[in-house]
Amino acid sequence: MRVAMIGGGMIAHDQLLPSLYHLQRLGRIGEIDVCARRRETLEALAAAPVLQRAFPGQKFTARLEPYEDVIASLEPRQLVVTALPDQLHYEAVLCALRHDQHVLAVKPLVLRLDHARQIEQEARERGLMVGVEYHKRFDDRSLLARRRYKEGLFGEFRLGTACLLEKWYYRHSNFQNWFSCEATDAFTYIGCHYVDLVAFITGLKPVEVSVYGIRDRFPNGLEGWLWTDARVIWSNGACLNVQNAIGFPDAAPGTNTQGLTLYCSTAERGAWIRHDDQYRGIQYCYVRNPGGAGSTVYAEPSTDYFQYVDAGGPGLVPVGYGYRSVAYIVERALELQGLGLEERRARLAEWDRSGVMATPANSAYNEAVIEAARRSIAEGGRAVAVAEA
Ligand SMILES: NC(=O)c1ccc[n+]([C@@H]2O[C@H](COP(=O)([O-])OP(=O)(O)OC[C@H]3O[C@@H](n4cnc5c(N)ncnc54)[C@H](O)[C@@H]3O)[C@@H](O)[C@H]2O)c1
Repeated sequence: MRVAMIGGGMIAHDQLLPSLYHLQRLGRIGEIDVCARRRETLEALAAAPVLQRAFPGQKFTARLEPYEDVIASLEPRQLVVTALPDQLHYEAVLCALRHDQHVLAVKPLVLRLDHARQIEQEARERGLMVGVEYHKRFDDRSLLARRRYKEGLFGEFRLGTACLLEKWYYRHSNFQNWFSCEATDAFTYIGCHYVDLVAFITGLKPVEVSVYGIRDRFPNGLEGWLWTDARVIWSNGACLNVQNAIGFPDAAPGTNTQGLTLYCSTAERGAWIRHDDQYRGIQYCYVRNPGGAGSTVYAEPSTDYFQYVDAGGPGLVPVGYGYRSVAYIVERALELQGLGLEERRARLAEWDRSGVMATPANSAYNEAVIEAARRSIAEGGRAVAVAEA
């Protein structure tokens, strides 16, 4: 299976390309294309020191033509990985489907419920997979909490808090070219992870959202909703507060700060789930800054999300749920190879039901929340009903 990745920015460098390279090394996938608009983007990605160190001798084919042409050049039912800014996902995913390609899409899939529905329908008709890469689902702690919740060990979710604040230096990245108030906001960009996770763990559906946002400026003057505070009400009346920002101090340890607390109960007693998703128990103090975006001398690295380990070589092996999530979706696309339309549809329906991989059919509540959230933030945090997904 050939894999064409559209977009060569931060997530491509940090997680997607190394995961794909490793799958290529394991013989699971064939050639990799990467498409971007600017030559420098692809040159920087190809020359990235950590990728060269981890995957000696491995290369992608740099594609500078419009992504539509790259997608059109593929044989049917290869895999297109969309790693574009949020507001471009819809066109790119539909383009891939209309050219009979399976899709691994970065989250959020799209920004509107009707767009998610359209993607779902297009994919179903053609027997194609769309896997939305909500990688936190593949953190073992999420899978364990989900299993325990299903077993009734927590009763029912009542009140919760979650946060995910990315570091300040993101403001200096390519984000200042697309993260405008009109396009997206901190909740839409990263809050969706925890909305998805609470739905994933509890099986509840979001029904109402209000998002208060603070406008702030990128270094180039672009104005974005860089700080957000959201309240999400769930189908059983539970309430989740989610805080997001691009503004966690660069000097703080770790690549961001994040976590989830859910207070739950039965009629008789309380229960509690708390995930510190930032501090995973590792504390390092180096003799010098090791370099790389956001590095600090005192560090709290997470081996749970994504790290490279030396497993004897050649190169380095990516470990963590960031890799496992990409591998899981790629393996699903591989499973469909060689199957006829009806067999593919049956397999896809089974995955929609089991709900481990996020698909347009089983995770469109995310689009419904985003759509309501975008209205709410523009109206000063008014509570907006979430459409039934
Ligand atoms: N935790 C996560 O799951 C996670 C983390 C980071 C980003 N993301 C998502 O990934 C997406 C990309 O984020 P990023 O951090 O890589 O952003 P980025 O700005 O660093 O990269 C975007 C890339 O898209 C490319 N691009 C833009 N328009 C294009 C076009 N028409 N054709 C080809 N390439 C084009 C740009 O050149 C750039 O390489 C966003 O939707 C974001 O929300 C997800």
